[in-house]
Amino acid sequence: MPFGERYPPLIEFVQRFLEVDRDMGLPQQSTTAWRAALEYNLIQLLAEVAPSHADSQVFFSNSGAEAIEGAIKFVKAFRPAAPYILNFTGGYHGKTYGALSLTPNEEYQAPFRPLMANVVTVKFGDIEAFRTEVDQLGGNNIAGVFLEPIQGEAGVIIPPRNFLEQLGAICEHYGIVIVADEIQVGLGRSGYHFASIEWGGLEPDIITLAKPLGGGIMPVGATIARRDIYHTMLGGLSSKRHSSTFGGNSLAMAVGLKSLELLLENNLAARSRRLGAKSLERLVTIQQRHEHLFEAVRGMGLLLALEFRPVVGPKAAPVQRELIDELSGLLGLLTLHKAGVHANLSLNAKRTIRLTPALNIPEPLLDELLDRVERSADHHAWAVEMLTATAPKTLYGLTRLARGV
Ligand SMILES: Cc1ncc(COP(=O)(O)O)c(C=O)c1O
Repeated sequence: MPFGERYPPLIEFVQRFLEVDRDMGLPQQSTTAWRAALEYNLIQLLAEVAPSHADSQVFFSNSGAEAIEGAIKFVKAFRPAAPYILNFTGGYHGKTYGALSLTPNEEYQAPFRPLMANVVTVKFGDIEAFRTEVDQLGGNNIAGVFLEPIQGEAGVIIPPRNFLEQLGAICEHYGIVIVADEIQVGLGRSGYHFASIEWGGLEPDIITLAKPLGGGIMPVGATIARRDIYHTMLGGLSSKRHSSTFGGNSLAMAVGLKSLELLLENNLAARSRRLGAKSLERLVTIQQRHEHLFEAVRGMGLLLALEFRPVVGPKAAPVQRELIDELSGLLGLLTLHKAGVHANLSLNAKRTIRLTPALNIPEPLLDELLDRVERSADHHAWAVEMLTATAPKTLYGLTRLARGV
């Protein structure tokens, strides 16, 4: 949510759009001006930091997972003879079938096996492990690599700074298509419009965007691909090889364009970087004062993570570990919620709670948010205190939730 709930300029824009334009302009009928304008502006923004993308093209869809599905097909169509796709431990790309195949999480994958074949998972942030895997499989056998420049659902995992750049060099050598999934961190959340490029020094071939592109009120996904990649799959008579009824509709494109305008006019990426640095400093201080409660804090822009310690000590049997981790995260979330802080669980890191304030959050409100985090930490200086301070009925409910019953 880049602008928080019901951001007046966006709501007013949508109301006016519905009064004035009223035409959904589905792309099957025509390429609308709204769609063309959003594509043009996205590409301009991208080309400012990656000039080689100046003639790239965009396939619009309706969610992050769909943007990834599009990217999988682009990769496969472009390198049909290369069977393998690489992804990374901790990565999250969505839960539709293809995206799920690239999301290495037992809980989500196990019930749906067999998934897409020939996906090989490499340790995130470890360039030697990546090099070894490429050598073993043979670079020419690898169609593409999917990565988040900073992993969001893994609990805000920031790789070593030169990891992405080195990965880029290896992929370029073999022509491996690089897909940077910027769905969570892109367009400002991480403090950059394109974190892989501006922070990581990587020039991906395909970039996926979603979440903030719809301003938090409209489902919009985008798969940006280099022109040759785009055309191999969708050029000329092949243009029907991938499609979506509502992908690229006028209302979604208009909202996307307005969101982009609001992000840029208010300089929200730079603001996110500045406020994020300040917030992280504060969280580090809180963590140092409460090491018994927080195992770690991390952050990049206004994507902040609090990793809670397990509420039950290390003596617990390994089979209970998952349950305890889940319960620890839920208790952390509940504790923050009681302090008035609306936070997020992390889908691939059970004990990590993310703070993702609106990028336009008034600064005093952000300070208040951090004050409240601190106050709730003062109140529960040890993780186990969150457990003992919770009413048995609530605890029972959370345990059932954690066990999935
Ligand atoms: C990096 C990343 N990719 C893909 C997705 C999937 O997006 P959606 O939930 O819109 O399908 C997410 C959602 O959290 C994400 O964080």
